[in-house]
Amino acid sequence: MKIAISGKGGVGKTTIMALLANEFKKNGKDVLVIDADPSPHMAETLGVKHPEEIRPIADMTKLLVERSGKTEGSPMYNMNPEVNDMLVDFMISHDGMKLMVLGAIQTGDKGCACPESNVLRRMLTKLLLSEDQVVLLDMEAGVEHLGRGTIAGIDHLLVVVIPSKSSIRTALKVKKLAEDVKIPKISFVGNLIQDEEDKSFLESGLGVRPIAFFKDSQSIRKAERQEVAVTTLKNAADSAPSELLQKLMA
Ligand SMILES: Nc1ncnc2c1ncn2[C@@H]1O[C@H](COP(=O)(O)OP(=O)(O)OP(=O)(O)O)[C@@H](O)[C@H]1O
Ligand SMILES: [Mg+2]
Repeated sequence: MKIAISGKGGVGKTTIMALLANEFKKNGKDVLVIDADPSPHMAETLGVKHPEEIRPIADMTKLLVERSGKTEGSPMYNMNPEVNDMLVDFMISHDGMKLMVLGAIQTGDKGCACPESNVLRRMLTKLLLSEDQVVLLDMEAGVEHLGRGTIAGIDHLLVVVIPSKSSIRTALKVKKLAEDVKIPKISFVGNLIQDEEDKSFLESGLGVRPIAFFKDSQSIRKAERQEVAVTTLKNAADSAPSELLQKLMA
């Protein structure tokens, strides 16, 4: 299963993805988290000590072109056997999960000017997953990447929304675009929820009830300030991660 996350800036996409990744891991899944935000923050959120040492997938562009002997725009032949050994260089293992960072791709590179979206799209569409493997894609805010078709090959898009009108507006825009690019499943996830009224506000504004609600948690907020991995917090999000996982698996 390949799951991506979207929503307005700062609504909690990375936090929720980290908690979800941890939940999948606890359920015995082989988890690969890909941070596709050009300003990556997933490694810190997961408590990786030296995030700057992760080699960005962006660097793979040249390798892919060299190995395949193809130029930009051509299909990637034999991508999986070619790439599996290669992927290791771009992947770190942390706390029982794998993490990759897209990074910012240098364009205008001799021989290849592949925009970052191309590399990611190829990876996503060519990565073959077994039943027990899950890919979680953390995205930058906004809707531009949807327009670029970056997340082709995604099975389920989660749109994080907080109880504010502007967040709802963005979430609805994201949903519309995601439908246009034919993402098979799109669901809303509520964050920073304080009470039942927040839940109803979201449900009526969105026209559908979010599939999970994450509470406004003081321990999550403090963890970020103290650079503590959100995944190490006990009960910071109550049963929200496990409910979200159940809905995704259903
Ligand atoms: N449920 C929550 N309770 C309290 N604080 C939260 C919660 N979810 C996220 N936060 C805090 O809100 C801030 C933004 O969260 P996060 O980085 O996950 O958002 P984002 O949507 O990924 O942001 P960006 O658009 O910049 O990528 C962080 O400081 C995080 O700790
Ligand atoms: Mg983020």
